[in-house]
Amino acid sequence: MRVGFLHSLIRKEEKLLLAELRGRPGVELVSLDDRRLVFGLGSPPEVDLVLERCINHSRAMHALRLFESVGTRCVNRYDVARRCGDKILTATALAEAGVPQPRWRVAFTPESALAAIEELGYPAVLKPAVGSWGRLLSKINDRDAAETVLEHKSILGTYHHSIFFVQEYVRKQGRDIRSFVIGDNCVAAVYRTSDHWITNTARGARTSLCPVTAEIGELSLRAAEAVGGGVLAVDLLERDGELLANEVNYTMEFKNSIDVTGVNIPAEIVSYALAQRGRSA
Ligand SMILES: Nc1ncnc2c1ncn2[C@@H]1O[C@H](COP(=O)(O)OP(=O)(O)O)[C@@H](O)[C@H]1O
Ligand SMILES: [Mg+2]
Repeated sequence: MRVGFLHSLIRKEEKLLLAELRGRPGVELVSLDDRRLVFGLGSPPEVDLVLERCINHSRAMHALRLFESVGTRCVNRYDVARRCGDKILTATALAEAGVPQPRWRVAFTPESALAAIEELGYPAVLKPAVGSWGRLLSKINDRDAAETVLEHKSILGTYHHSIFFVQEYVRKQGRDIRSFVIGDNCVAAVYRTSDHWITNTARGARTSLCPVTAEIGELSLRAAEAVGGGVLAVDLLERDGELLANEVNYTMEFKNSIDVTGVNIPAEIVSYALAQRGRSA
């Protein structure tokens, strides 16, 4: 079977996935570097399956759409990437599926964004709809900060910064939970602990084992299903014993979570992906 490995830079995660793919009998690896690919309609490289590991959301989304247009099964699917790559689409999908999440508002002008922030109350969190690694997140503690951030965004920001996604701030006490969903299973979870309110490992948070309780497993699967399912990492926030789904990631990073969980996440991903061959795109 010809497996297309769609990627940009080969980071530690990609190395682990490639090693895993190379060890599987019957797999012929086809490197698909998104910096070199050129598509014409009906002409993406012929492969039986695409495993997507791009860094850039727009590249991933468009490449997945092009591969699916010729019937190639992709992990993850285009629709899933589109929903997960945009926090507004994720929040909408979670709401439609009745999955508990922080309260949120979407606004398109600085004035209406200010009204949305005031309605949610302080502190509020303002995020770009498309972004990752905790970048450009603002915790807005009062009206002065709200006005300042909104003015900076409207004058200095690009178009994307005039789509305002605002959430209530969840007092989550030093950590969040990152769970890993592969198909119908929540295979592992970690706590991400930090002194900073932003607990991405890209921002220095430490990971430690989080047992997958029935509640964590169930909410993670519901969140994953809400966006269309596949290979997904779910960010969960804890508040007074309550769990909220904050975000679903579709090109998940897992290098800091293999040793602490003891779960061979790249092996699980590859087994799942290979089993998807032939399933409709
Ligand atoms: N509404 C919120 N309340 C409290 N903490 C939050 C909230 N939103 C984000 N965070 C913190 O910021 C981190 C990054 O936010 P997230 O929405 O996952 O964006 P990114 O795509 O950059 O990872 C979360 O893991 C969490 O620690
Ligand atoms: Mg996140």
